[in-house]
Amino acid sequence: ALQAVAVEWGVWLPAPAKINLFLHVVGRRADGYHLLQTAFRFLDHGDRLRFTPRADGRVHRLNDVPGVPEDDDLVVRAARLLQRETGCTQGVDIEVDKRLPMGGGLGGGSSDAATVLIALNRLWQLGLSRERLQAIGLTLGADVPVFVFGRSAFAEGVGERLQPLQLPPAAYLVVAPGVSVPTPRIFADPDLTRDTEACKIADFAASPSIDRLFGRNDLQPVAARLYPEVSQAISLLAAEAGAAVVRMSGSGACVFAQYADIEAARQLQHRLAAQWPAGWQGFVAQGLDEHPLFRSSPA
Ligand code: C5P
Repeated sequence: ALQAVAVEWGVWLPAPAKINLFLHVVGRRADGYHLLQTAFRFLDHGDRLRFTPRADGRVHRLNDVPGVPEDDDLVVRAARLLQRETGCTQGVDIEVDKRLPMGGGLGGGSSDAATVLIALNRLWQLGLSRERLQAIGLTLGADVPVFVFGRSAFAEGVGERLQPLQLPPAAYLVVAPGVSVPTPRIFADPDLTRDTEACKIADFAASPSIDRLFGRNDLQPVAARLYPEVSQAISLLAAEAGAAVVRMSGSGACVFAQYADIEAARQLQHRLAAQWPAGWQGFVAQGLDEHPLFRSSPA
């Protein structure tokens, strides 16, 4: 079983990025949500959060986030949801050290919310099961459950049906092309492919090859058409990445290139750094099988 480690008041706790190694849209639910098949992989790069107890029972965010009012912030909503679900009367101040781009397809907001659920479950001593936290997380967003699940995973449904994945080690150069992509706009596009044939997890597990990534991202053509910066990032990486696969993550805007070793990813970063338009950002990260807030307990 996975155990949460080092969850304490006042300590910075990790909220890692994810990338989608592939993402297929295989159908649509009656409520308009799309049925997906995707592989989530965590990266050793992300946001950090810390928590301070409040005696007055309120939930507050200490840092300012441009464009995101406190009451709309997923981290604040996650904490208040836990209070409502459990009747807990304890309060908390939450501070987010934001490193991941918003509207970047790296799951930053979802990961932050998941870290809130996991941390406050411990700090407030609520005793909720992992499954219950995943279900609560799903009401906040389709990408939240995988971060609570705590392992890189093959996901189905809208992202809530999860099976752990063990993947070969790999390093990634991730490029954020300075634009924020609103996920609903991509899913609502009439040109989106919505009928990709469902695959079996065995098909993916048999060939999550380093050089030629399984499948594709069905959201990529739509995002690349609507956001020229996404298209530009894909072209720039593809021209310089050699044999490495270049793909968009989630609904964009971030694009990644996958390499077997981190040195190759760093070299690509150096080659590209001089060509990046102002406002673009890039980072190199290692793929993780486990969320850094957890470790496997013996047996
Ligand atoms: O769940 P989340 O808040 O991330 O989703 C944002 C929007 O993206 C949803 O309101 C929906 O329009 C779209 N979406 C979808 N199918 C999914 C996930 C998201 O249609 N599986």
